[in-house]
Amino acid sequence: MGRQFFVGGNFKMNGSIKSITEIIENLNKAKLDENVEVVIAPPSLYLLLAREHLRKGIEIAAQNVFDKPNGAFTGEISAQQLKESGITWTLIGHSERRVILQEDDSFVASKTKAAVDGGLGVILCCGESLEQREAGKTIEVVTAQLKAVADKVKDWSKIVIAYEPIWAIGTGKVATTEQAQEVHAAIREWLKKEVSSDAAEKTRIIYGGSVSEKNSAELAKQADIDGFLVGGASLKPAFVDIINSKS
Ligand code: G3P
Repeated sequence: MGRQFFVGGNFKMNGSIKSITEIIENLNKAKLDENVEVVIAPPSLYLLLAREHLRKGIEIAAQNVFDKPNGAFTGEISAQQLKESGITWTLIGHSERRVILQEDDSFVASKTKAAVDGGLGVILCCGESLEQREAGKTIEVVTAQLKAVADKVKDWSKIVIAYEPIWAIGTGKVATTEQAQEVHAAIREWLKKEVSSDAAEKTRIIYGGSVSEKNSAELAKQADIDGFLVGGASLKPAFVDIINSKS
């Protein structure tokens, strides 16, 4: 059985009630490829607005989650709170959080465990900096990020891996199809060795970094690219074309 194509929209800290309502209305009336799993991640303030207005069949992700179920953790949201509110996914480990907010591999892994245990789907982000790529360390960096999670999480059935090279995020500089495919294949090989053959076969590995309606169809043809995590372009009507890039 093939892996279902997966397209996520990460709005980051963008949008307003008005613009997010417009994006949702646009998605609600769009003709979307029924074979594609679509998940959007608005800022946390708008998660319930999205849940209320978004049509069935499109899921919603938080952009972050904490690793405890409740308690004195000012500013944080738990997997249990998200689940109760109809938010079924969360992003974890985005490079903007790893770099700007200094989240390390171990914290990313704890959050992934809490989210999986709490019944959420996880879009687990990984990726190297330009410096690391130029030093030939891409696979080493990415697999170390994943290994920290594998040390704590045994069930990968609810995890989608998003490979997002940092140098391609928001820069307009998309990885070539060869560069992306090479890393995706290496991640799949790593899953086979370190997790299980089943996880290697079934886990979706999606690409993020300057994905647009202009490059998505070509990227989508690669054997190990099972979808996209889209930033800037997910705020635009062209997001629909990216979702439909396989059809
Ligand atoms: O999570 C999506 C992402 O970081 C890519 O952003 O704007 O380059 O599509 P963008």
